[in-house]
Amino acid sequence: MSQFEHLFTPLQVGPMRVPNRICETTNTINSSMAPGLIDEHFIAHHGAKARGGTGWIGSETWLLDVPFPPDTSPEIGLSIGFAAPFAAYQNPAFLDGMRKFVDEVHAAGAVAIVQLTHLCSAWSASAVPVIGAQDYTPHVMGEAEIEYCLNSYANAAAAAQSVGVDGIEIHCAHETIGYSFLSPVTNRRTDQWGGGPEQRIRYVVEALKRIRERIGNSMALGIRMAGLEFRQGGYDNLQMREMLYLIGETGLLDFVDVDAGHCWGAPSYVPNSYYGHGEFRDCGKGARVDLDRKIAVLFTGRINDPVVAEDLIKQGYCDLVGMVRAGIADPEFANKAKEGRLSEIRRCIGCTRCIDEAGHPVLIPYTPTCSINPLIGSELRWNEQFKPAAQSKRVVVVGGGIAGCEAARIAALRGHQVTLIEAGKRLGGQLNLAARTAGRDSFEDQVYFEENEMKRTGVEVKLECKVDIAAIKALSPDAVVIATGAVPRVPHDVSGLDLPHVVQGWDVLRGTANTGKRIAIVSQEDYYETPCVAEFLAAQGKHVEIFHKSVRLGYEIPRYSMGMMLKRIEDHGVAVHPNLVLTGVEATALEFVSSFGGHNCRKEGFDTVVLVYGSVAQHALYDELKADGSVKQLYLAGAAWLPRHLAESTRHGANIGLVI
Ligand SMILES: Cc1cc2nc3c(=O)[nH]c(=O)nc-3n(C[C@H](O)[C@H](O)[C@H](O)COP(=O)(O)O)c2cc1C
Repeated sequence: MSQFEHLFTPLQVGPMRVPNRICETTNTINSSMAPGLIDEHFIAHHGAKARGGTGWIGSETWLLDVPFPPDTSPEIGLSIGFAAPFAAYQNPAFLDGMRKFVDEVHAAGAVAIVQLTHLCSAWSASAVPVIGAQDYTPHVMGEAEIEYCLNSYANAAAAAQSVGVDGIEIHCAHETIGYSFLSPVTNRRTDQWGGGPEQRIRYVVEALKRIRERIGNSMALGIRMAGLEFRQGGYDNLQMREMLYLIGETGLLDFVDVDAGHCWGAPSYVPNSYYGHGEFRDCGKGARVDLDRKIAVLFTGRINDPVVAEDLIKQGYCDLVGMVRAGIADPEFANKAKEGRLSEIRRCIGCTRCIDEAGHPVLIPYTPTCSINPLIGSELRWNEQFKPAAQSKRVVVVGGGIAGCEAARIAALRGHQVTLIEAGKRLGGQLNLAARTAGRDSFEDQVYFEENEMKRTGVEVKLECKVDIAAIKALSPDAVVIATGAVPRVPHDVSGLDLPHVVQGWDVLRGTANTGKRIAIVSQEDYYETPCVAEFLAAQGKHVEIFHKSVRLGYEIPRYSMGMMLKRIEDHGVAVHPNLVLTGVEATALEFVSSFGGHNCRKEGFDTVVLVYGSVAQHALYDELKADGSVKQLYLAGAAWLPRHLAESTRHGANIGLVI
């Protein structure tokens, strides 16, 4: 018997028997490389979770048909990111792919659930922008349009049923029409569809009725609903409970899938590492307490660990646990949990890179990304290319950051004899720096994972060991991977940087830099490093101001996490001055020029100047070895080649491990 007794007990949900309580709630990670179709990449990506033991597979949402007027559809389509006058489910080729996928899910013993979505950014209950990030107001739905949408849920449910899907979930959270009717902020209607809770649930209840009329009780039927909105004027948890209770009382529901958060906010519905595991679990509990026992309660939100999941069920917070990113980080985590192989689980660190990119794919064809799982988005290629090495080689990896660890891990898994040499006291490289900052301690989980994996795969690890080219050659390697990382960038064109009160952000985090009471952070970094350093210092009671080169801090942080970062900066009283580039530092002053206007300005009153300018690759050892020419297979990995984000280093290292 597994130590996770509750987690691995099957559950009957309507007519559907769920083999265990672990659910991949719907996540539109855009895994298909054929737009509008379910292809082999999609099946490989979500199928891996089913084979890995996840009992409930929600895969990716079905966007339903939206008949925009012919003259306007291209513009509206572009402005909301799609331009489909019909929906994919109406295409027989899509349904063929879906049938193959459902068969794959069933063969693995799991159930397949389809989420039905009408987005509300173009048309909605009332003329209120769906999220604060948008400045355009949606078209207000009339009776005929409401009728059209309600029927399309039923049509789509019937299509899902025809290909063997087990359950249907109407999406009534995030940026959907269902949500726009439920929320008092976005539903200002005075007709039968608006007003108090009983009127605002009418759209959802009608949609459920239409589906039931079409499919009867042959499939499980549920809704996804946010436990609370985190939006000014939005519903709180008590108001949500009232609406959910009323919907439950109609007898139409088999399950409710409760999450929390707004689509643009703090938190978003994909809570990042700053949130506790299952922090909003009380939203699940409220639903569980209120609803008839026949209605299963699924709760989702930053649950990445079977111990937490087991506890949530045991303590009555929910019956089913959503674990989406847990399965992206490690599609096999459920089987590993069942078999007690806990130290082998790669736990999601909550960086939100998966949703950040899936929400706004910049590269077409797009492949899903995970910061710590190098296989994500390349499952088929890995299946083809991952092979035991024809001949076991002696591999030396220099540098124990994520790229070095992944190169070592994959090479060892393929049967090579690997030695990993790290100058510091611990593996992990920049992960250790990130983990020192507030809300980022989960990054250390990946360090533990790599440490465990080095032991499990037999990599010889040498810590606090600095090597030069002679020391590497003395090990007689067949292959060498140089993964020596990066160092902070120091600008060349700024005077006064040799003054003693100028320090680097990394040294602040390491605790090796002295800082005074009044801190100026000068930033040319657009991701998390600057806000993390600022919060780290402000939390010590220091006065912190950021002078940033571009239009806003964290320019590269997408909407799912940007709100949280800005909130924390504000909560800590950190002032941000955008569009300023440093030109000189003096004993008591800083000189800037504005980024676009070219105007000069001077700021006084700081004891310490902290530079956060990104980083530059450190590859001298590689250059020397290359010039020497004696190592047959020589690779440069991760930030030592190009400092980017975590995912790029993870993939680069792992891909090198694959080809040695
Ligand atoms: C890449 C990605 C895409 C998502 N797309 C959807 C979606 O289409 N519909 C939806 O209801 N939730 C979507 N979600 C939210 C997840 O269903 C889930 O609620 C969220 O990831 C929090 O759960 P977790 O902490 O287990 O990851 C998405 C999440 C991710 C990571």
